[in-house]
Amino acid sequence: MAFLRKAAHALLALSLVGRTVTPVAAITLDPTNSDSIKSAAKIVAKDLMGYYATGSTGAVLSGIPGLLTYPPYYWWEAGAMFGQMVEYWYYTGDDTYNDIVSAGMQNQVGVARDFMPANQSKDEGNDDQLFWAFAVMSATEVGFPNPAADKPQWLALAQSVFNQLTTRWDTSLCAGGLPWQIYTWNQGYNYKNTAANGGLFQLGARLAKYTGNQTYADWANKAYDWLASSPLITADLQVYDGSNSLQNCTDADRLQWSYNYGIMIGGAAYMYNYTNGSTIWQTRLTGFLTHAESVFFPTAYGSQTMVEVACEVTQKCDVDQWSFKAYLARWMAISAQIAPFTAAKITPLLQASAKAAATQCNGGTDGTECGSRWFQDTCDGNVGVGQSMSALSVIQANLIASAKAPLSADTGGTSKGNPAAGTGGNEGSAKTGLSEITTADKAGAGIVTTLALIAVLGGGWFLVSGD
Ligand SMILES: *[C@@H]1O[C@H](CO)[C@@H](O)[C@H](O)[C@H]1NC(C)=O
Ligand SMILES: *[C@@H]1O[C@H](CO)[C@@H](O)[C@H](O)[C@H]1NC(C)=O
Ligand SMILES: *[C@@H]1O[C@H](CO)[C@@H](O)[C@H](O)[C@H]1NC(C)=O
Ligand SMILES: *[C@@H]1O[C@H](CO)[C@@H](O)[C@H](O)[C@H]1NC(C)=O
Ligand SMILES: *[C@@H]1O[C@H](CO)[C@@H](O)[C@H](O)[C@H]1NC(C)=O
Repeated sequence: MAFLRKAAHALLALSLVGRTVTPVAAITLDPTNSDSIKSAAKIVAKDLMGYYATGSTGAVLSGIPGLLTYPPYYWWEAGAMFGQMVEYWYYTGDDTYNDIVSAGMQNQVGVARDFMPANQSKDEGNDDQLFWAFAVMSATEVGFPNPAADKPQWLALAQSVFNQLTTRWDTSLCAGGLPWQIYTWNQGYNYKNTAANGGLFQLGARLAKYTGNQTYADWANKAYDWLASSPLITADLQVYDGSNSLQNCTDADRLQWSYNYGIMIGGAAYMYNYTNGSTIWQTRLTGFLTHAESVFFPTAYGSQTMVEVACEVTQKCDVDQWSFKAYLARWMAISAQIAPFTAAKITPLLQASAKAAATQCNGGTDGTECGSRWFQDTCDGNVGVGQSMSALSVIQANLIASAKAPLSADTGGTSKGNPAAGTGGNEGSAKTGLSEITTADKAGAGIVTTLALIAVLGGGWFLVSGD
């Protein structure tokens, strides 16, 4: 996600802030009552999917299945949204949206079945591809209905992305790590970041748990060890965003984002479970959670309400960043489930944040639209896909205690895999993208990045540093 390249679109996000709000309905939520959680989630899911299609089976607003309307919504965010909706079905049993969610994911796999569709691949980042992989990995784990046999299968798609990521491991600088971007001509190629490397870590951990194949765990360990040896993860387990590989990753950008913590918490929880509760993963998971709690649940807002501290209070998050709280909530819930020793810490945070989120879902014309600031009692008018996704995520996460454990290949999982998917030089769609690259594309990417960097560096953001 590409937040630097894409931060220019923060302007678009801000233009939504002025939307008139007439609080009428709001959503009531008792986070200890599953019927209450399900009915709240249903309302927010409807608002969220309203950005994608008319009704549950109606026309896709962008005109192309799998894509949200651009601008402002980039390709990756649709993948993140479909992952959320797969989990919506898992948590609530409501299959209203299953067909359009399935069709949307299927339409973006690309000719090589690797989430490198020709329309996107030329400026796709490793983290962008990963968020689609997370969606199909969730579909695999929760037993989301399988596509027809002649269509790409969820597990094989996740393996395909995993296999491609491992071929991009770059030892030429920083002694390893994945670049943020896939292609050298994209500006962020010289940025090695937590989303890409933590994403490989988490995907490897989940594939190891699901398939029992140790090779995936070996890669998860490799990605983790590289992150831990770089400035991206500190000795006391704080998580920073990224590092300049042209300076050999000697220092890190110290922005702390909830989604980076979410990715690391999720991956560590899967490794904890995969290793049958090893002390080393218990320590790491505990460290990430401790920092996540102190950074994203600030005492200034009651210590239990999640806040995207780097940009939310000043309303400077970009379109991507408004969705980040969704991923921290999502993977905190998974942690409580598969690393049960963390549940006592996590449950009250998810309960209080869900209650706070629901309380302010009283915006928009239907009176149930969710804003960005959960610590307020009314919607702040800053609405959108990311805001609705975050609210949905934290609300439905409170069903985790009664949700069934993730499936694995030997506990009832039925998705068909293919360990060789995505290998054998079949990056057909990527090659298509490559041949289509023009000078204008390259220049365009560079300009947007420069603008974005100015926005980030000059925006007076509250930088959360470890000092
Ligand atoms: C790719 O873009 C073309 C032209 O806009 C469109 O017709 C097609 O549906 C797109 N394909 C996908 C998979 O998004
Ligand atoms: C770059 O960093 C790696 C890992 O810290 C180190 O092994 C390597 O020697 C460094 N290379 C240069 C050119 O400084
Ligand atoms: C975890 O325990 C299971 C069942 O006892 C065993 O088969 C498996 O090898 C163990 N895994 C690890 C990584 O130790
Ligand atoms: C792994 O996850 C399962 C499913 O939630 C859980 O029952 C089990 O206790 C977990 N293992 C450990 C070591 O916590
Ligand atoms: C385990 O995964 C690796 C990496 O994808 C693959 O090469 C290997 O064939 C897999 N092994 C089995 C038994 O599926």
